[in-house]
Amino acid sequence: TVGNSSNIVWHKCSVEKSDREELLNQKGCVIWITGLSGSVFEAKYWTTVAFTAIGKSTLACALSCALHARGKLTYILDGDNCRHGLNRDLSFKADDRAENIRRIGEVAKLFADSGVICIASLISPFRKERDACRALLPEGDFIEVYMDVPLQICEERDPKGLYKLARAGKIKGFTGVDDPYEPPLNCEIVLHQREGVCDSPTVLAEKVISYLERNGYL
Ligand code: PPS
Repeated sequence: TVGNSSNIVWHKCSVEKSDREELLNQKGCVIWITGLSGSVFEAKYWTTVAFTAIGKSTLACALSCALHARGKLTYILDGDNCRHGLNRDLSFKADDRAENIRRIGEVAKLFADSGVICIASLISPFRKERDACRALLPEGDFIEVYMDVPLQICEERDPKGLYKLARAGKIKGFTGVDDPYEPPLNCEIVLHQREGVCDSPTVLAEKVISYLERNGYL
């Protein structure tokens, strides 16, 4: 029995992941970006201060653009975007968040198996569910990126005004305010943001790309 079904058998095809990867000249994997909502980074230049909203989605996009420019096939699974379709039936209650993570993990696994570099960007606040997504993939193919930004900074920047609404009690169960976020204990890449230490989306994307290069994914 698999899940709620019985009498189902896995069907294998002679064209395998390695064949598709050869065709694409890349290695399929999942880059999983996790962190608080509105993990906004600020990019400072010499004389001016340029505010660049770099949350999970912005990093995902910068990464996708940089890899695309190198001739690599990527696809982004964004939490917000998937909630417009695949996950439109899910709320922000714990069970639904867990299901959101599980579904995106399963879809990401399919993309990686197709040879694509899949970039998943969602809060994914629960360690257990993130680890379950990791376990779906071959060893090394799940690359967890933690946007380590203190709650205070996210809240100060508040790009969508959601923290303000959460503090006013107008949104219940907002991650970091009255809902938990469990940071990764041992992930592949941590991108820190502390006061006065800033990086542009391109620089952050390059950090991830250099990890991919060092580990033979490009
Ligand atoms: S989760 O926890 O992984 O299921 O969340 P995700 O699918 O990534 O969706 C997060 C975005 O939804 C908006 N939003 C909320 N976030 C957290 N808690 C609550 N209650 C909530 N309600 C709406 C918010 O804009 C998140 O966007 P990001 O891109 O993370 O800032």
